[in-house]
Amino acid sequence: MTSASAPGKVILFGEHAVVHGRPALAVPVTQVHVDVEIRDSSRAGIWLHAPGIYLHAELSKLPRTNALRTVIENVFRSLGMVAAPSLKVTVKSSIPVASGLGSGAAVAVAVTRALSSHLGYPLSDEQVNALAFEAEKLHHGTPSGIDNTVITYSRPVYFIKNQPIETFNVGSPFTIVIGDTGISAPTRESVGDVRKLWEADKAKWETVFNQIREIVQAAKNAIESGKWPKLGPLMDENHALLQQMTVSSPELDRLVLAAKTSGAIGAKLSGGGRGGNMIALVHDSDAEKVADALKAAGAKNSIITKIENI
Ligand code: MEV
Repeated sequence: MTSASAPGKVILFGEHAVVHGRPALAVPVTQVHVDVEIRDSSRAGIWLHAPGIYLHAELSKLPRTNALRTVIENVFRSLGMVAAPSLKVTVKSSIPVASGLGSGAAVAVAVTRALSSHLGYPLSDEQVNALAFEAEKLHHGTPSGIDNTVITYSRPVYFIKNQPIETFNVGSPFTIVIGDTGISAPTRESVGDVRKLWEADKAKWETVFNQIREIVQAAKNAIESGKWPKLGPLMDENHALLQQMTVSSPELDRLVLAAKTSGAIGAKLSGGGRGGNMIALVHDSDAEKVADALKAAGAKNSIITKIENI
């Protein structure tokens, strides 16, 4: 039996603008994860079991566009395998689907690692990242690659599309509360809608993306120099620009407001938006209070997590 795990992720700053070439900051979230187990099987074919999404099927019976099928077939292709072995692949996940926490990328990373190791040819991080990026294109259409990168390397990343991976140093650890609206919202749609806005008025949206770039640079400096309370107002500014981009939602705005009125220093949506998750920066002593306020305002779940060097 071979197993592999991959964490979830949150984007601290810069989502959506990152698709348009600006930088973004993201960190792994290890409280949620995908766990994959692979065993040889006496039954012919590749049997997939993903109880969380009620999937029990043989690989070749799934649609060709199915994300799990694509991930597995890409691993075979990259290893140059022609005949598929008989395997049982079990995928368990505590990352909510389509919620901005990177569930699709985490499945791709964990399956790719477990499968390539099980077959005796463990792929490098670079190869895993490249294959997970291919899978992301199925979910997102035109992904930046930030989700698969932060999840593959499981490190804080300062990410610019098509550029070598850069990590960043956390000068002094800080705490965020993640609140889940419980609404699943496909990233493909929000990314597509932002692209339409940009196509209709490039000058306006290039200016907005540049404002986000400034926020990301200021946030990186604040994190690296240990001055994390400065991130609060930067989160508020980034959220306001995401609202302008039409990727917030009444539920996200309600959670952001609830976090702010219960003591958070700043708050914003995180990831694709329109649902999914938001994040709030807190003093440690306020974390439980903010998490409770998020639940009272309708959050289906909340996670308190410390951002620190890994
Ligand atoms: C999704 O986690 C982040 C987006 O910026 C899309 C992407 O970067 O691929 C919305």
